[in-house]
Amino acid sequence: MSGLSHWQLDGSAPELYERYLVPAITAKWAADLVERAGVRPGEPVLDVACGTGIVARLASLRTGRGRVTALDLNQGMLAVARAASGGDGAIEFIDGSALDLPFADGAFHVVLCQLGLQFFPDQAKALREMRRVLQPGGRLAVSVYSPIENTPGAHVFVEALDRVLGGEASRIKRGEHSFATAGDLQELIRNAEFESVQVDTVVQQIAFPSVLDYVRFQLLATPMAALLGDRPDSERRAVIDKIASGVTDMSAAEMLQGGGFSFPQEAYVGTARAPG
Ligand SMILES: C[S@@+](CC[C@H](N)C(=O)[O-])C[C@H]1O[C@@H](n2cnc3c(N)ncnc32)[C@H](O)[C@@H]1O
Repeated sequence: MSGLSHWQLDGSAPELYERYLVPAITAKWAADLVERAGVRPGEPVLDVACGTGIVARLASLRTGRGRVTALDLNQGMLAVARAASGGDGAIEFIDGSALDLPFADGAFHVVLCQLGLQFFPDQAKALREMRRVLQPGGRLAVSVYSPIENTPGAHVFVEALDRVLGGEASRIKRGEHSFATAGDLQELIRNAEFESVQVDTVVQQIAFPSVLDYVRFQLLATPMAALLGDRPDSERRAVIDKIASGVTDMSAAEMLQGGGFSFPQEAYVGTARAPG
């Protein structure tokens, strides 16, 4: 990913998510998640809240063709996921809800859910569904971000966002970081009747070519795009520039070295087994 000379980005939010945020952020978490789950050749795997499909693609490299199913309720994300996977049926993409998985009991050996659980309106139900579709002894691997204060780049971003756009502006971004402790995730997984539950606090170093790129990608490639709505281009540019300069002012020197923007990002990553 190289620095961009102009603030504007061509493409829909899901396309921009796949082009910029997946390589910089979620591909790193996906490699870790698939590794922790120990995905093996031939195993049937489900990726819940697949977004543009990075977890499903990495899992499919291990299972071989036709073994991975991926589900999301956002059709824009699914369309980009299908295209990014080559659209040749190697992965089956399903439009559906994590709260009501359209699969038979015990259909999968592995269920993965990366950075999606925090958005589900009934997290306990979603985890019970994930357990139901796992075969006895099947493996779960799930990740959520920890409190936003533990990820300095995201923290200064929400502070700058609120200063420029007002107190409610950062609600969506702060919502991504709604899990207060690793214990909260552990308890949720245990209460869904999983066994051998382990939750680790994991850090990945995240890097963007510049603060401006980070702010643009957050505001154009995620549901936060709604904050800028249909403002004229000149106004959107001014808002993005203002937030970026706020982020720069609040960032520690080590986050800004070499003109880039780099910081540790923290998440809770849980693994468990279905009983049996
Ligand atoms: C931050 S994205 C993560 C996507 C992907 N797992 C990744 O790591 O790149 C969160 C995803 O959760 C999906 N999502 C939110 N609520 C959902 C639900 N109830 N059922 C299925 N997917 C849901 C959204 O549509 C979005 O694609």
